[in-house]
Amino acid sequence: MTSQIGHPVVVGITGASGAMLAGSVIDTLLEMDMPVMATASSAARMVWQEEMDESFGTALERWQDTGDFAYYQPGELTAPIASGTFPTRGMAIVPCSMATVAAVAHGMSDNLVRRAADVCMKERRPLVLVPRETPLHAIHLENMASLARLGVTILPPEPPFYLKPKSMQDIADFVAQRVIHALGLSDALPDDMRYEGPSGRA
Ligand SMILES: Cc1cc2nc3c(=O)[nH]c(=O)nc-3n(C[C@H](O)[C@H](O)[C@H](O)COP(=O)(O)O)c2cc1C
Repeated sequence: MTSQIGHPVVVGITGASGAMLAGSVIDTLLEMDMPVMATASSAARMVWQEEMDESFGTALERWQDTGDFAYYQPGELTAPIASGTFPTRGMAIVPCSMATVAAVAHGMSDNLVRRAADVCMKERRPLVLVPRETPLHAIHLENMASLARLGVTILPPEPPFYLKPKSMQDIADFVAQRVIHALGLSDALPDDMRYEGPSGRA
């Protein structure tokens, strides 16, 4: 039996709105000294360019500088994360488009994000999807329900209104902590991200 320590966390980024959420998940994992292997669909890069001040290329360089980060192109189906024999701690797809939700729900592994998710499901590893779309129609909901029944965590990026977040970055950081907790990589949320009852904090 081998230990999970040192195995990477896989992060897939897709072309749903919310590129900031992906940035926050990867930043937080690297700050926790968790090795990360990431891949992004071509739509993800398009959305990143629309929404972020830092270019995707600059973010990749910054993450690569930590030494614990590897990036694979979406067509790179020879990447280690495309095989179940390569050990990982699980995967988050953040943000997750409805196209990728549908593909994963139907076992369509036609890019590396989708294949790596399929691998997590077949190997019974944690898989967390952060779906972003509104409103949702019945096909979106049915696909997410199928995945939830298979043990996939569906974690919409809902703001913690009760914590009175001051910025979008606060919300993204909160969602990142929820994702990391759902992957089984933290025991609890940080103290300042927990609801402490109606009297508020001291
Ligand atoms: C600026 C922009 C924002 C988008 N936002 C969403 C979104 O929030 N949710 C979604 O499901 N698709 C969204 N899309 C559409 C997806 O990018 C599109 O369906 C794409 O094919 C998804 O491919 P992927 O899942 O491989 O990344 C958006 C597209 C653009 C250009």
